[in-house]
Amino acid sequence: VGLAALSPIDRAALRINGKGDYPPLHLRRHSGPLVAFDRAASEFVGYLAALTDLGPSSNVLDMGCGSGALAIMLRERLVDGSYRGFDVHEPSVRWARSHLGDDRFAFQSFDYWNATYNPPGQRHLPWPVDNDWADVTLLKSVFTHMLPEDVAFYLSELARTLRPGGRAITTAFTFDAVDDEVRERFPHEGEGYRYLRSTSPESAIAFPREWLVDSARAAGLVPTMYLGYWRRQQERPLAYQDVMALSADSSALPT
Ligand SMILES: C[S@@+](CC[C@H](N)C(=O)[O-])C[C@H]1O[C@@H](n2cnc3c(N)ncnc32)[C@H](O)[C@@H]1O
Repeated sequence: VGLAALSPIDRAALRINGKGDYPPLHLRRHSGPLVAFDRAASEFVGYLAALTDLGPSSNVLDMGCGSGALAIMLRERLVDGSYRGFDVHEPSVRWARSHLGDDRFAFQSFDYWNATYNPPGQRHLPWPVDNDWADVTLLKSVFTHMLPEDVAFYLSELARTLRPGGRAITTAFTFDAVDDEVRERFPHEGEGYRYLRSTSPESAIAFPREWLVDSARAAGLVPTMYLGYWRRQQERPLAYQDVMALSADSSALPT
């Protein structure tokens, strides 16, 4: 049964569960596993609260916002701050803008190239955000779908748009050595990355951890890694994917 056929049932179930403001099934699916849509977003609000200075008046930049999962979870907290969400997937942004947008919550299409998500887009396109605008930036499961060259460019844009003292959270799959588990999860090898599906590298990508951390430093950011439980034997994992928290200055993050 296709997602479109299930849509009316889904809409009714959302309403019964007090989730009438959630995006339709096919847009939630675009953002990842359906079960994780709100669960993962509320989990990340917790990480933002713990690892950044997220407060009621923050300026929050959500690059790769999908159809607005984080915005839905942030509305109660961000009582007089601003939220700006960007994504290359026009249908998600259009839905979010018309259902969740207002004068403080803005959603905008960003025409950046991605072979899987936005093939006609442009590479090395600056973020349409002023220097030092963001107090808090999130890229949740976005580097997971980008090639190294674009990740490095995004890190420089993240550094440019994050105010001095601001903090960011990004997620990615990273590895320090290519062991059996990494080979099993990401069987294919690209230039400077590994990937899951031979036909579509951007479906899920993993980077050498040292490369990601060095790229953040090269952009002028101070990275702290929190490894994830996608690795079976990870001690004290934080989230599913590895989290790289970034500071625009050298103030220490909890380890
Ligand atoms: C796995 S989804 C995550 C969505 C959202 N961050 C969340 O966690 O619910 C990845 C998102 O990144 C977007 N995306 C892919 N490449 C991008 C890029 N270069 N710039 C901005 N968004 C991008 C996709 O369209 C998709 O909405």
